[in-house]
Amino acid sequence: MLKGECVSETTLKYYPYLYKRDRNREMSELLFHAKLLQGKILDIGCGDGGQARVLARRGFEVTAVDVNKKIVDIHNSKSNGNPKFLCTGFPDLAVEGPFDLCYALGMSFQFVYTREEFIKAIQRVYSLLKDGGMFIFDMMPADTINPEQFGRRTDRIIVKPKFLLLRASDVQFDGQIFTWKADYHILNRHGYRHIVENTKMRLWKEEDVCGMVSTTQFQVQGIDGELGYDNTMNKTFILQKR
Ligand SMILES: C[S@@+](CC[C@H](N)C(=O)[O-])C[C@H]1O[C@@H](n2cnc3c(N)ncnc32)[C@H](O)[C@@H]1O
Repeated sequence: MLKGECVSETTLKYYPYLYKRDRNREMSELLFHAKLLQGKILDIGCGDGGQARVLARRGFEVTAVDVNKKIVDIHNSKSNGNPKFLCTGFPDLAVEGPFDLCYALGMSFQFVYTREEFIKAIQRVYSLLKDGGMFIFDMMPADTINPEQFGRRTDRIIVKPKFLLLRASDVQFDGQIFTWKADYHILNRHGYRHIVENTKMRLWKEEDVCGMVSTTQFQVQGIDGELGYDNTMNKTFILQKR
């Protein structure tokens, strides 16, 4: 199983403060693209689990997976069984299908580092879908990355009555691998902690992604902007099983 760090059990606690995500809007757009009103859904790389919970509340049967066992255990301890959280990930995806929709958002498909792994992973997703089922994933393509993001800087300072958080990020990109070292300095009633998270993602050009997708029977229904947001660098790939 390939494993990329990011969204640890520590940052999970501070996730809503670090990222202002509108999970309802993201999931509405996802369902609109998938043209789905009911059924079985697989969330791959569920992170904080917010998207999977929205879908479960809307009546879908949701399996949500992540390679980070600690956060999967935390989610399961709070879940009523839907979503069902499992510790697995690309490319193996040890889950039972078939699903009407599989999705990998928040760039979780970018923890697959080689062309061989990408093709193995996408073929596995294909095998987990019903005929006509959809696979929707987003990516930060190598051709749209903004060099202004590179280097080291303090990019979050959060001041709340119960805690203070400062994050310093160091972002590098060598043309293929995007690395993000994040230093979190957190002061709360338990004292001060310094946590370091290293995220390593593979960035592809849009044409490379289309080339790898074309090795499968998936049909590209569209390539859109990031779900829930306008004018971001991320692209959403919408595929259908033929
Ligand atoms: C940036 S988070 C995105 C979380 C959530 N999907 C969202 O949109 O907010 C990326 C997630 O991918 C997970 N991940 C890393 N390697 C993975 C793999 N090989 N397969 C599936 N998920 C993986 C990480 O543990 C992390 O929770």
